[in-house]
Amino acid sequence: MALQNKKIVLGITGGIAAYKCPEIVRRLKDLGFDIRVVMTNGAKEFITPLTLQAVSGNPVSDSLLDPAAEASMGHIELAKWADLIVIAPATCNTIAAINAGLANDLLTTICLATAAPIAIAPAMNQQMYKAAATQENLKNLTQRSVAIWGPGSGEQACGDVGKGRLLDPAEIVELVQQHFMPEPAQSLLNLNILITAGPTREAIDPVRYISNHSSGKMGFSIAQAAKQLGAKVTLISGPVSLSTPQDVERINVTSASEMHDNALKQAPSHDIFIACAAVADYRPSNVSDQKIKKNDDDMTVTMIKNPDILADISALTEQRPFCVGFAAETQDVEVYARGKLARKKLDLIAANNVSVAGQGFNSDDNALTLYWKDGQHELPLANKQELAKQLVVEIIKHYNQAQ
Ligand code: PMT
Repeated sequence: MALQNKKIVLGITGGIAAYKCPEIVRRLKDLGFDIRVVMTNGAKEFITPLTLQAVSGNPVSDSLLDPAAEASMGHIELAKWADLIVIAPATCNTIAAINAGLANDLLTTICLATAAPIAIAPAMNQQMYKAAATQENLKNLTQRSVAIWGPGSGEQACGDVGKGRLLDPAEIVELVQQHFMPEPAQSLLNLNILITAGPTREAIDPVRYISNHSSGKMGFSIAQAAKQLGAKVTLISGPVSLSTPQDVERINVTSASEMHDNALKQAPSHDIFIACAAVADYRPSNVSDQKIKKNDDDMTVTMIKNPDILADISALTEQRPFCVGFAAETQDVEVYARGKLARKKLDLIAANNVSVAGQGFNSDDNALTLYWKDGQHELPLANKQELAKQLVVEIIKHYNQAQ
């Protein structure tokens, strides 16, 4: 989904939580959004326009009657320019003014003059939030399709405890991203998605194992993207050094057999299974109890085949999830990927050419080709986070068609 060039007016009003705004702007900029900041006089008591100008890379607007600002981008242009107006933190005063349709400062005037959607993230003392007037204002705004994001609960700057805290920057950024999600992605909201990621380790003795170069980055990025798009995500991970994406349930395993047992247990309660793990195809047939000594010049390890997690889940006759495989190939990518698609009776397969430098195993970037029975679709080289978002959107399109 192209977040690049999406234009956001961030309205900042006068509350202590305004200190969180540079973090919101930085995160949105990192995602490719174009940000214009509008500050009320109250906001400038808590944070300087210069800080916001530096992080947004754009001049900050703070006055309705500023000839210089009106000469460059005036209030009507700003109102027309925005794809989304986010007011964070929104004080009860600004909320009341927007509800009343006042145009008594630049921010409220832009809200009246815009056709763009408006989202408000309230931040105020818990008693002021509970006040009947504030609740009435918020209810009215909701009925006029203004989105209300939060507030969160907890300890407040004044020492009170209760509802009225500004959402964390990460939560606000996630809500902005969700706002721009294409339609099919929005239907992830009630879906349970199971993902395998990372390598497996097949023990030879207590200190040695056979494994591969999977870092888990691709699978973890898919888990994060699916979660951000609203799904409930279970991630079964081999040994990797990555932190768990927020609100994703993680099950750690070591060997292919462990991954198999856990995945088979989880699969029936999930709608979609995405097998991104690089599972060892074979394991040593005997695992020595003690460290093997180097008494001989050579050594033979006899291997036996591991169970195929993806094939076994795809073969479920009841409560079978929609099955998406990966194919890591070094040659004849389409032929081998289509072979796996047919043999394992998959709904979709994502093939990557892991012989190309800078993509595939243990890299930050990847490129995928999706194959299904009678079609294919390219997802060109991109960082794994961006690619994962595109992949999840494609998976959900196919999942919806299959229902
Ligand atoms: O982890 P990264 O460093 O980010 O690298 C990402 C990746 C290259 C590992 C990933 O993009 C990828 O290609 N994962 C699948 C790797 C793989 O094992 O491919 P395969 O072609 O050998 O297996 C085919 C499919 O069967 C895969 O979905 C695999 O998860 C599954 N499988 C394989 C063997 C087995 N015993 N059980 C399985 O479920």
